[in-house]
Amino acid sequence: MDGSNGASGNSPPPFDLEKLRKDSDGSMSGMATSLLHQVVQGNPYFAAGGGLMILGSGLALARSGIIRISGLLYRQLLVDMEIPSKDKSYLWFLEWMAKHPHRSSRHLSVETNFIQHDNGSVSTKFSLVPGPGNHLIRYKGAFMLIKRERSGKMLDMTSGTPFETVTLTTLYRDRMLFRDLLSDAKNLAVKAKDGKTVVFTSWGPEWRPFGQPKAKRLLPSVILDKGIKDSILHDVKEFLQNGRWYLERGIPYRRGYLLYGPPGSGKTSFIQALAGELDYNICIMNLSEANLTDDRLNHLMNNIPERSILLLEDIDAAFNKRTQTGEKGFQSGVTFSGLLNALDGVASSEETITFMTTNHPELLDPAIMRPGRIDYKVFVGNATPYQVGQMFMKFYPGEEKYCKEFVKKASALNASISTAQLQGLFVFNKDNPESAIRMVETLKFPNHVF
Ligand SMILES: Nc1ncnc2c1ncn2[C@@H]1O[C@H](COP(=O)(O)OP(=O)(O)OP(=O)(O)O)[C@@H](O)[C@H]1O
Ligand SMILES: [Mg+2]
Repeated sequence: MDGSNGASGNSPPPFDLEKLRKDSDGSMSGMATSLLHQVVQGNPYFAAGGGLMILGSGLALARSGIIRISGLLYRQLLVDMEIPSKDKSYLWFLEWMAKHPHRSSRHLSVETNFIQHDNGSVSTKFSLVPGPGNHLIRYKGAFMLIKRERSGKMLDMTSGTPFETVTLTTLYRDRMLFRDLLSDAKNLAVKAKDGKTVVFTSWGPEWRPFGQPKAKRLLPSVILDKGIKDSILHDVKEFLQNGRWYLERGIPYRRGYLLYGPPGSGKTSFIQALAGELDYNICIMNLSEANLTDDRLNHLMNNIPERSILLLEDIDAAFNKRTQTGEKGFQSGVTFSGLLNALDGVASSEETITFMTTNHPELLDPAIMRPGRIDYKVFVGNATPYQVGQMFMKFYPGEEKYCKEFVKKASALNASISTAQLQGLFVFNKDNPESAIRMVETLKFPNHVF
């Protein structure tokens, strides 16, 4: 490696003064121009640098050209559709995508549905929905790129969840498929709840389905005292048929029902069965929930999903609170005036059916009984002999003789027996009416555990 030789070998040639003179017109400026010419033309460094420069700027031009063209192509050939997490179709779409067969994705996220049944058993279901990131699917022959993004900075303060969007991109000519896809997703969601009742619970400022849709509870399975079920059902049906009447008179189209009575008498069960009978869903709101505020209650009550019954459980919880300051200093619980305002404010062109329940009607302020807030009030009490008999026959069909004996013995106890207690006894003695009769004494103790 001979550096000096290499350097001298590549060194620029000396200037040819003769040539300079010949090439120029003899003036100083002419000679200078000619000199510049020689330097640039004869110098390999300049030649190489210039080449690189031209190549570089050529590439840069090509690059920006490609970017521009691809931008143009993107605009001309591709379309995208954004579904924000606020939108109803967002959850439908994720569920649909979880079940879609032609997809390739390496980012999954798990959604756990946890349901506690009336009998205390728990079932869980995991569905693997597409997680944040890119996914490719084929839908009706078209490729679609799906991008689920989480906005890390923006947080929904009330629910504590990040805002998200899903963006679908496909070829412009396939844009009509978006509509098909959304309606497929919606149909899937509707089919899943066909013949079922969807229970919504509050999730921050919005209503979200709680677990999977439940099989409808049948009305005959709830045993109330004679005539109660029929009269409520008749009243609700009449209300639902009279929308025009309310509209013409300028009356808010809503009706409030209050079911009051001891625990375990079937209030909640009846409302669920009624929803099933009417083919309605249920929005359950527990007023004793710790972080529920007046504002949130008002917002939720004014944004109920369509065809839903609003169920306010334990409304007495709002009556012992005058102010909204929690122990730790933050606001919690609903105040009495907050509840009244929310009830009065419900203004929707659709019908609003509100059911309220309480174990302590004596704690309710008379102001809640004003028509428009509560229009219909029913006492759902402990089991009457009629109900005891009906419950027995529900569990042991055809056993009339034993039924009579059981009713007689249960009445002789002279105790307040709830229908939930009866259910407990009959479930324990499944298929064995004689044993149920033998154990009738246990009904004296409401908290008896078998
Ligand atoms: N009248 C009834 N007919 C049929 N089942 C009933 C009846 N009452 C209670 N049960 C059963 O008892 C359990 C509790 O009933 P439910 O939750 O409806 O009572 P509730 O009146 O709402 O009680 P609470 O006032 O404590 O909320 C359910 O499993 C339900 O099936
Ligand atoms: Mg209840």
